[in-house]
Amino acid sequence: MASIGKIKLDNPVCLAPMAGFSTVPYRVICKGFGSAYAPTELCSARSIRYRGVGPSYQYLRIDPGREGLTSIQLFGFDPVDFEYAIGAILDDELLSKTDMIDINMGCPVPKVIKTGAGSALMKTPKLAGDIVRAARKAACGKPVTVKTRIGFDRGAKGDPDFIKVLADAGSDMICVHGRTAAAMYSGQADIEAVALMGKAAKEAGVTFFANGDIQDGASALKMKEKCSAQGLMVGRAAQGNPWVFDRILKEMKGEVFTEPSFEERKEMLLKHLKEEVELAPSEDAAVRAMRSVFVCYVKGMKGAAELKDRLCRASTVEEVEDILWN
Ligand SMILES: Cc1cc2nc3c(=O)[nH]c(=O)nc-3n(C[C@H](O)[C@H](O)[C@H](O)COP(=O)(O)O)c2cc1C
Repeated sequence: MASIGKIKLDNPVCLAPMAGFSTVPYRVICKGFGSAYAPTELCSARSIRYRGVGPSYQYLRIDPGREGLTSIQLFGFDPVDFEYAIGAILDDELLSKTDMIDINMGCPVPKVIKTGAGSALMKTPKLAGDIVRAARKAACGKPVTVKTRIGFDRGAKGDPDFIKVLADAGSDMICVHGRTAAAMYSGQADIEAVALMGKAAKEAGVTFFANGDIQDGASALKMKEKCSAQGLMVGRAAQGNPWVFDRILKEMKGEVFTEPSFEERKEMLLKHLKEEVELAPSEDAAVRAMRSVFVCYVKGMKGAAELKDRLCRASTVEEVEDILWN
């Protein structure tokens, strides 16, 4: 079974970090369906360094009691920012309980890469290594992991040298998403390119996770076997669909998975929403933030287009309930 540093995972399949989706309630729901753990969405190391953890708490929040294993993901471009940010995390009563720190070296968003952070770090491997070393020094023995891509420019076919840099700097796990930064989320994940990086990780003796287009047992098994991956991360297939973990784990064992009914999906949407309301500054804020998630839950349902349209205009839990059931 996969391990990250001294941490042993119950199974190899995890929820990928996704801004706007990977909240505490959703990570807990996914855990209930088999996700081994799920990093938080990305949070700026520089912002934490200069403003403390307070303003970023909604992104950093973890719930070790209900989530089990936890990992906080940071992005940035300056090793010193990571030292300060991790120091601040470890000084916070709740956040200090995080089991791991994950470093984002895969984000393709222009706002992030123009600072030299996210996937831009693939173009500055020495700096990427320095960031891992700084994070390790600050993390007081907690595993430091990295999530990256198969390359920066369109046409890149995997970067085994980058894996070596990250491994030499002391990464405890490296996860590779099978697209270039230029491709963002378009096209298909390039499994051969991920496999090339998986081979480099194996040679370097570092735990390797593969990511990209995994949605069922067949795609999970293919990715795991071809890429010598100990673990897998599932992103978009898990949006509004926590059952995907049950499906993947069952199908990987050759067991039969039964899709949830529309009623079960509606009930899950409401349970998820009510938990988000508990943590949000207001009911209205929670309902608004969940709009893109509602769309995912009702995909494929009878009258989905009208449901989506009405749900995207709701601002209270009562309105959402009314739209779903009447
Ligand atoms: C809406 C959205 C938000 C994302 N946010 C993050 C993030 O905060 N950190 C990160 O490392 N990756 C992020 N990703 C990338 C995913 O973790 C994952 O690598 C990508 O979606 C490919 O996996 P998939 O094909 O299973 O979706 C995000 C992806 C999406 C679609």
